[in-house]
Amino acid sequence: MDSVTSPLRRVGRAVSRVRVVRGRPRSSPRPWKTPLKDPSLRRSVALFRAFLREQEDPEACYSLLARDAVDQVEACDGPVAGRTVLDVGGGGGYFTEEFRRRGAHAYLFEPDPDELGEKPPDGAVVADGYLLPLRDGVADVTFSSNVLEHVSDPETFLSELARVTRPGGLIYVSFTNWLSPWGGHEWAPWHYLGAERARARYARRTGRPAKHTLGENLFAVHIGSTLRQVRARDDVTVVSARSRYWPFLAESVVKAPGIREFATWNLLLILRRCPT
Ligand SMILES: C[S@@+](CC[C@H](N)C(=O)[O-])C[C@H]1O[C@@H](n2cnc3c(N)ncnc32)[C@H](O)[C@@H]1O
Repeated sequence: MDSVTSPLRRVGRAVSRVRVVRGRPRSSPRPWKTPLKDPSLRRSVALFRAFLREQEDPEACYSLLARDAVDQVEACDGPVAGRTVLDVGGGGGYFTEEFRRRGAHAYLFEPDPDELGEKPPDGAVVADGYLLPLRDGVADVTFSSNVLEHVSDPETFLSELARVTRPGGLIYVSFTNWLSPWGGHEWAPWHYLGAERARARYARRTGRPAKHTLGENLFAVHIGSTLRQVRARDDVTVVSARSRYWPFLAESVVKAPGIREFATWNLLLILRRCPT
C-alpha cells in the first residue's frame, strides 16, 4: 500500500513547508507583462501529435504539455523561479516537476492516490481542491490544468483557488468543455450522441469499462456560462480567456457565442486575484 500511504505520510511535511515558504512580497504584485500572443502552428501540431500518442507514451505527452503550460505562465507573469506555485489536481505531477525544474517552489495537491502514480513528486499532498490545507494567499501562482470539468461545483472550486492565491497572484485554469470534440474524453466524439451511448460503445470496443461517467467524475461544463460566472466574481479579474491549444485566433474563437462551444476545444482562463 505504499502508493497510498506514502503520499499521505507526506501531507504534514508538505503543508508545513508551504506555510514557511515566502513568495514575492505581497505589497508589490508583478504588473501584467504582455497578454499571451498566438503561438505557432508548429507548437499546436506537436501538442496534437503528443495527444495522439498519449496512451503509448504518456511521459512524452505530459512532459511536453507541462513545458508548454509553464511557458504560458511565464509568458504572462515572468519567470517562476523563486515563486510559490500550487498545482491543484495535478495528477502524476508532471506540471509540478516542470515548475520545480525552473526554480519554483511548487507543491502538488491531488485527491486521488491512484492518480499520483508510482513516483509522485516529493511532498505531494493528498487533498481535495475544494478544501486545500493552506492558509489564505499563500501562492504566487495557482495552477489547475484540466480539472474543472471533473468537479461537480466549479464555482466553489474556483473560490478555493482564489482564496489560496495572494492578491495580485496569477490563477491558471483550463478545462475541456462538454461540447468540445474531446468533451467526452475517452468516449469522444461519441458524446455528441449521448453520454450513455458513448460509454457503452467504448466498453464494447475496448472490452473495458470507461474511466469517466457523466455526473460522477465528468461534468458538462460550458464556456459561455463559465465565462459569465467568472466575470461576475469580485475576487478575480479575467486577464485572458482563450483556446489553450489553438495556434491562431485563440482569443477570438472564445468571443463567438455558440461556435466557441465546439471550436475552442479547451478553454484557458488566466485570472488575477483582486486585492482584498
Ligand atoms: C484529467 S486529470 C488532469 C491531471 C493534470 N492536471 C493534467 O492536466 O494532466 C483530472 C485530475 O483532477 C483531479 N480532481 C478531480 N476532482 C478534484 C478535486 N475536487 N480537487 C482536486 N483535484 C481533483 C483528478 O483526481 C485528476 O487527477
